[in-house]
Amino acid sequence: MRLILLGPPGAGKGTQAQRIVEKYGIPQLSTGDMLRAAVAAQTDVGRRAKEVMDAGKLVSDDIVIAIVSERIDQPDCASGFILDGFPRTLVQADATEKMLRDKGLALSAVIELKVDDKELVRRVSGRYSCAQCGTVYHDTDKTPSKEGVCDKCGSTHFKRRPDDNAETMTQRLEVYYKETSPLIGYYYAKGRLETVDGMAEMDTVTADIEKILSAL
Ligand code: AP5
Ligand code: ZN
Repeated sequence: MRLILLGPPGAGKGTQAQRIVEKYGIPQLSTGDMLRAAVAAQTDVGRRAKEVMDAGKLVSDDIVIAIVSERIDQPDCASGFILDGFPRTLVQADATEKMLRDKGLALSAVIELKVDDKELVRRVSGRYSCAQCGTVYHDTDKTPSKEGVCDKCGSTHFKRRPDDNAETMTQRLEVYYKETSPLIGYYYAKGRLETVDGMAEMDTVTADIEKILSAL
């Protein structure tokens, strides 16, 4: 199964991708996570990406396409993968088509999560994650069952992203509507687009995605 999760910042792509990973055992390929790992490791790519990411703009197509292309060649992607946050521009979408065609692979579905801007800002400003395993939480909506302890790995260290603030979020949304939302029409025209109401509760969103996946 090869999926694309499409949606604005804070729509729940990462949250839902984690659930698909658990159920289907295919890896989540988040370009945001990969770029943040490069920033933390202070690689060349990371040094170039940091400023762009902190400003809420997009890292260059060449860089992200190269990262994804290399990643999907890894053995754990042989039975499928979930693309989370990629493609994000029409250039990246065309590159994805070519990448898959060259490898003789087909896309199973593109799932768009639809959420209002006001809700996106609320979600992103309350978001934090486990510093050890990356599990995502929210100040009010999704707290660990034992306060200050990660449900998944037991770590007591949490972090917030530097781009999760109202000002940068305005920029990220602008970039989304300008650069990424044209992909909705792109995949609709190809007959691949499935739209899910991302405003619903997390479990309802998961169930709606599950309905789509079980029909594939
Ligand atoms: P990236 O890391 O991809 O961030 P994003 O697209 O902005 O998306 P987010 O991770 O913010 O949101 P999400 O949809 O995963 O939501 P989540 O599940 O966490 O990209 C970061 C940056 O990297 C970009 O700005 C860019 O600079 C660069 N980059 C990355 N990919 C690139 C590319 N392809 N090309 C160029 N540059 C690239 O949920 C959010 C919060 O809401 C959480 O707290 C969660 O608990 C909560 N929540 C989730 N679902 C629900 C629900 N149903 N109800 C209530 N709360 C919910
Ligand atoms: Zn953890």
